[in-house]
Amino acid sequence: MLKNKQQYAQITAIGGYLPTQKRTNADLERLSDTSDEWIIKRTGIKERRILEDGLATSDMAVAAIQELCTSYQKKARDIDAILIATSSPDMPMPSTANIVCEKLQLSNVWAFDLNAACSGFLYALDMGAALVETGRYKNVVVVGADKISSFVDRTDRSTNILFGDGAGAVWLEPSPETGILDALLLSDGKGVDYLNIKGGGTQYPYDATDWNAEHRYLKQDGKVVFKKAVTAMSTACKELLQKNNLSIEDVHWLVAHQANKRIIDAVGKELGIEEQKALNNITYSGNTIAATIPLCIWEFKHQIKKGDLLLLTAFGAGFSWGASLLQWNI
Ligand code: UT7
Repeated sequence: MLKNKQQYAQITAIGGYLPTQKRTNADLERLSDTSDEWIIKRTGIKERRILEDGLATSDMAVAAIQELCTSYQKKARDIDAILIATSSPDMPMPSTANIVCEKLQLSNVWAFDLNAACSGFLYALDMGAALVETGRYKNVVVVGADKISSFVDRTDRSTNILFGDGAGAVWLEPSPETGILDALLLSDGKGVDYLNIKGGGTQYPYDATDWNAEHRYLKQDGKVVFKKAVTAMSTACKELLQKNNLSIEDVHWLVAHQANKRIIDAVGKELGIEEQKALNNITYSGNTIAATIPLCIWEFKHQIKKGDLLLLTAFGAGFSWGASLLQWNI
């Protein structure tokens, strides 16, 4: 692989948080017309985590950052910038990142949110890497966090089976050697009608009328999203590898957005990667939107070795999608 940057951003620590409360397939059998057998066969999911009422996305982001700090002896006061990728902010204003700073007692940090739905972590990782590469920021924390359960109708079997809450965080620092190598990130607004939460914004503000109430929950056309996700993620991965003169045999681990085990398997098959190299943790956490990729890496961090090449890929509402290549440095 060619060294193509003067300064890289490398991941020097990773942390995660999953709420303790579980929503199992048995719970969903009681809430809607579905079955444990159907859910496992069609999604690979057995349970998802649900954040308790009264807590918000920022609480999970803070917990993930604190877990990272404890595990890697990092100090929150050293952070220069925090990027929170989320589609379920605590509130429209201020940003969840601002609230995270307050909860971590930080007042000198450049903090902002980035919304690219399920691709949010990859978008934010590239943004965070760029901040480090400029040399102006030395300690950048990138978080994927979503309390998506606030937008999922518990009784809607077309969505309740998939989604759960969680947060994952990485710490980026400069390195002259290697780190985040490249990324390919894309979007196409033609996807808006196939996956969305329309309510609560300026087009459909909450005002308790029936007209707006129907837009309160996450809606998706699962079949369309499924097909698009497989094609878009596989194509982005192939293009990114080709651009970097790499082949799938060079990749040690594929970490695809954890949307559905069948999607993860289909992307792996399309790329021709060995099955054991395609990581998945969807069975016990479901689709946690922007948090799936950092949470999956976090869960497998003891298997990933220093120097391993990781190929990350995501697809989500918008549509938004992409892939990232990085060399693991921990
Ligand atoms: O991060 C991006 C977010 N979203 C996604 O990635 C979603 C991607 N899509 C999917 O994961 C899948 O499309 C779903 C899991 C949502 C649905 O699976 P599917 O294999 O596409 O099922 P389907 O919608 O084609 O439905 C097949 C059958 C239908 O019955 P008939 O018409 O064959 O009799 C559905 O009515 O399964 C029925 N069905 C269910 N049955 C039990 C649909 N949902 C359920 C359910 N439980 N939850």
